Amino acid sequence: MQINYNLKPALERRTEQFEPETDVGFGNLRTDHMFLMDYRDGQWCDPRVVPYGPFEVAPGAIALHYGQSVFEGAKAFMHEDGEIYTFRLDKNAERLNRSADILCIPGLSEAMQLEGINALIDVDRLWFPMQEGACLYIRPFIFATEDRLSVSPSEQYTFCVMLSPSGPYYSDGFDKAIRLLISERFHRAVSGGTGASKAAGNYAASLKAGKAAAEYGAAQVLYLDASNKQIEEVGAMNHFHILKDGTVIIPSFTDTILKSITSQSILDLGELLGCEVRQETVMLDKFIADIESGEIIEAGGFGTAAVVSPVGSYIFEDNRVVTVGDGHVGDNTRRLYQVLTDIQKGKIEGPEGWVQHV
Ligand code: PLP
Ligand code: COI
Repeated sequence: MQINYNLKPALERRTEQFEPETDVGFGNLRTDHMFLMDYRDGQWCDPRVVPYGPFEVAPGAIALHYGQSVFEGAKAFMHEDGEIYTFRLDKNAERLNRSADILCIPGLSEAMQLEGINALIDVDRLWFPMQEGACLYIRPFIFATEDRLSVSPSEQYTFCVMLSPSGPYYSDGFDKAIRLLISERFHRAVSGGTGASKAAGNYAASLKAGKAAAEYGAAQVLYLDASNKQIEEVGAMNHFHILKDGTVIIPSFTDTILKSITSQSILDLGELLGCEVRQETVMLDKFIADIESGEIIEAGGFGTAAVVSPVGSYIFEDNRVVTVGDGHVGDNTRRLYQVLTDIQKGKIEGPEGWVQHV
């Protein structure tokens, strides 16, 4: 693919490696450039790296009215050799196309996605934040640009990749366990809907739930299925729990749960983690009873942005609180976090192909 480069003038670009003086947070910062491709006349065209900045979008663009838009979230890390490596980016490219298919958006070859992302990271490599626990968060997305108000798939799209020097999603990082609200009022997805995709609208639909969670002092809602009987996932991460024998359980992937690459990685690592990792249908009643009896000793969430986020307690809408173990980060969760992040940072070798040099 022939990528066109229209870079910022050298004097306006970062010239030294980014050494942040304060916590970078999650998703706040941008780098100098973005990668773009357009879809028109039935094909993806015009791959280019351009200065990061506003788009010109028609007020009637289909994405703005009907939410025909999908996105991804991936990360790149700096290893001890001072080079940048992406983590399982091929899986994100594959999933972007799965999400696209669910929203009738034309897919973009994985090879082209990876080439564009690598080109962008290469240009903005000085933006890698030299801060403990930070990385380059990669946000590829596709949105419908055709200026038309009838409800049918757009014939024009833009694929964009932006980068954000970021730390973990939950500001307390790994060390403080979060609380989740178990609610029967909010549902993230129903079978036959868009739950298995990273559709923009899924996140718009989670905002009210997020507000309700905050009113209970919780970070997010733990979504149940439509019958309020099964545990599904959290707005920005899959859910897991750990039994007292160390077994890690992740709810089975269905068409109402996003197939998390972090969960898949923990499943793939399996024995390397020194414990059994499996998926099953998780019934809420049994889950709560098993926490109360001590059969379940730890719980948390898996996600690219969230990494491994320990959950210390659950609160119900009647204010009943159920604490997992002693409510703090447990040793098993700590080990999962350590192994995953050590592989990402190249401190230990993961399965072949998981980290790719940029
Ligand atoms: N579930 C939802 C709804 C998400 O938004 C995310 C984040 O991407 C995840 C799960 C975790 O997926 P992954 O580990 O691929 O980032
Ligand atoms: C990610 O983990 O990359 C996500 O996309 C979650 C996001 C909603 C912050």
